[in-house]
Order: sequence, then structure tokens, then C-alpha cells
Amino acid sequence: MSNPPFTFPFGSMNVLLIGFMGAGKTTVGRLLAERLDYQFVDTDDLVVERAGKPIPRIFAEDGEAQFRQWETEVIRSLQGRAQHVIALGGGAVKRAENLPLLKAVGAIVYLAASPAELARRIHAMPGVRPLIDGDGAKKTLPEVEGRVRELLAERLPLYERAADIVIETTGLTAEQVCQEVVRWLGSARVSAPQSPQSPNPLR
Ligand code: S3P
Repeated sequence: MSNPPFTFPFGSMNVLLIGFMGAGKTTVGRLLAERLDYQFVDTDDLVVERAGKPIPRIFAEDGEAQFRQWETEVIRSLQGRAQHVIALGGGAVKRAENLPLLKAVGAIVYLAASPAELARRIHAMPGVRPLIDGDGAKKTLPEVEGRVRELLAERLPLYERAADIVIETTGLTAEQVCQEVVRWLGSARVSAPQSPQSPNPLR
């Protein structure tokens, strides 16, 4: 950790990964953290820690509004971290108040994927995403894809508004996505202006 292989030109900051459930934020995030020699953190894990129970139970016992409240508190608590790769829950962009908090923490990478690909990945891991199968009934792949399309229609503009860069991940391996992010970070570093007026030249 004494000599990280990659540093931003304007001091320590973080890389935030946003995107829909199943976009690969956690898998890519872990790889990326290793590559950059950064710490990895997943806001879902911090919410679970705070609540003392897993996400499906939070949704069932406390409701989505309480989950979002804890999620916002966790996002607020990210301030002050440096050299972290941070994977956000898929709905972290839903609350307008989260956006400036996220922007202040680091560069925001949106991992995009087609609804069909997202549905395939979500369908392969049933029971962990209450917004997809919170009623307890096992969903067919077309049912999952329908739900993905519904939620994505709402969220796409929010992801795009929040993002400093969009990376299309459909058909790519996690390793390839990680390389894309590293490449972008490298080009942002090279083209970064040095003005103290713009401490974050990535946006
Ligand atoms: C959610 C996504 C989940 C988790 C919660 C709500 C969402 O995280 O935060 O189930 O609203 O999209 P992942 O995107 O890591 O699955």
C-alpha cells in the first residue's frame, strides 16, 4: 500500500461505480480496487451493517423508505474516504439529495448493460433483490426482464445524469470492464488541467 500504482493528479479521491442491479458493480469494483491498490467498499454492505440484517429483511420489515434513508446516511458517511473503489446499490441515484454527496466523493462510473443481460444475471441469483422478487414468488426470466425494463426506464436518466463516464458492459467480462475503467482514469489523468479552481477535472 505504500506506493499505489495509480494516483489521481489532484490528490486522493475515489472511484464510484453506479448502475442497475446485476451490472457487475461489486465484481468489477473488487478487481478495480486490486488493480489500483485501493480499498473496496460496497454501500449495500454498509447498510446491512447499520441495519443489522440482510437487505431482503430490511425491505420486508422496515420498507424501502427506511432502506433509502440508511442508504443516504451511508453515502453521507463516505465523505473523507480516499483511494477507495465504492460500489453503490442500484437505487442510490433515486434520491436527489444523494447526487451532490456522490459527486463530492469521487469520479462516477456508470456500468451500463442491456435489460436482457441484466435480467439473466439477476435471474441467476433469486431471492436477494426485493425490488425484483420481494413477493417471494420465483420469477421467470421474461418476468424479471419485464421488471428490469420498467425500473430501468425510470432510472436511466438518473444514471446518465450522475455519470462522469458511461461504460457499456454488455458482452464484456469483468476483467475487460475493469480495463476500460482503468483506461478512462488514465486518460482523465493525462488530460487533467492543473488549475486549483477545478479540483475535479473529471467533470
Ligand atoms: C437496489 C439494488 C440493490 C440493493 C437493494 C435495492 C435497487 O443493490 O441496494 O436491493 O434499488 O436497485 P445491487 O445493485 O448491488 O443489487
